[in-house]
Amino acid sequence: MTVQLDWENLGFEYRKLPLRYISYFKDGKWDEGTLVEDAQLHISESSPALHYGQQAFEGLKAYRTKEGSIQLFRPDENAKRLQRTADRLLMEPVPTEKFIDACKQVVKANADFVPPYGTGGTLYLRPLLIGVGDIIGVKPAEEYLFTVFAMPVGNYFKGGLAPTNFLIQDDYDRAAPNGTGAAKVGGNYAASLLPGKKAKAAGFSDVIYLDPATHTKIEEVGSANFFGITAENEFITPISPSILPSITKYSLLYLAEHRFGMKAIEGDVFVDELDKFTEAGACGTAAVISPIGGVQHGDDFHVFYSETEVGPVTKKLYDELTGIQFGDKEAPEGWIVPVDL
Ligand code: PLP
Ligand code: COI
Repeated sequence: MTVQLDWENLGFEYRKLPLRYISYFKDGKWDEGTLVEDAQLHISESSPALHYGQQAFEGLKAYRTKEGSIQLFRPDENAKRLQRTADRLLMEPVPTEKFIDACKQVVKANADFVPPYGTGGTLYLRPLLIGVGDIIGVKPAEEYLFTVFAMPVGNYFKGGLAPTNFLIQDDYDRAAPNGTGAAKVGGNYAASLLPGKKAKAAGFSDVIYLDPATHTKIEEVGSANFFGITAENEFITPISPSILPSITKYSLLYLAEHRFGMKAIEGDVFVDELDKFTEAGACGTAAVISPIGGVQHGDDFHVFYSETEVGPVTKKLYDELTGIQFGDKEAPEGWIVPVDL
């Protein structure tokens, strides 16, 4: 490898890599798509993505194995979620094959930036779909731009596997009960900026959002899903039409049940029943598994396992998930997609 970076301490920052993929949908069809050096997008000033938020994105990672090969984790699931998001916003969906091919091309073209095995780093891929063209009324675009760019990343929450604390938020919601919470659209994240800023200024890693209709149940942990472990060997994660269906979360539900014999449950997580959890964590592509030390809710501060140490079940799940992602453990059928270099 010719590229030298501080691979162990990458954090989660934008870095401009040599090449990205770009494809246009015009006159009713997608073009071939191509790799380009230009990291600027040239779009109409009236693009619906800019004015009315007709845009969607994804996040997935490429992992370097011990042998030096590179692999993707469940990219078909990201492709399908982008298609569901596109349906919700009346955007042109990107076919699964095109999506995966674009990801592979970007990884291959920037392979020197996939962090070495053992550093904890990965190559984060950001697929983005936006409505473009000369439209000013509130209506769907007729032209779309699909791009995939990438950057090497490390920890999203600064603790990594060390627990950090979160703030349960009563004053702000990230999504409406029947809104776009389950879709990966920029508007949800715009709504989370102010509460996120306030939580961070108060010393927390991020906000825990409650269900927007009743404010009695936990929904999301910033840009990740919530899970809790009980003394009865249960893995519980919230179910709601306004949370983003996390691919990491569904992977953990499967591993908890099929590899560790736990009872895997998607159900209500009432904020006044947190005592039943012996451990809790945030999970997502960027977050991986980030243990939740304590949560502040009004004047109450609740600690799950410990504010300083990761719990044993969380650690076991982390090792299994990342073992699969980095190619050290056998993956369930179809979870790993190799990138030919
Ligand atoms: N929830 C939100 C709001 C997110 O932005 C993400 C990130 O993608 C997740 C959950 C985790 O989803 P996934 O595991 O598919 O990355
Ligand atoms: C991801 O985990 O891929 C995300 O999209 C989180 C992010 C918004 C940083």
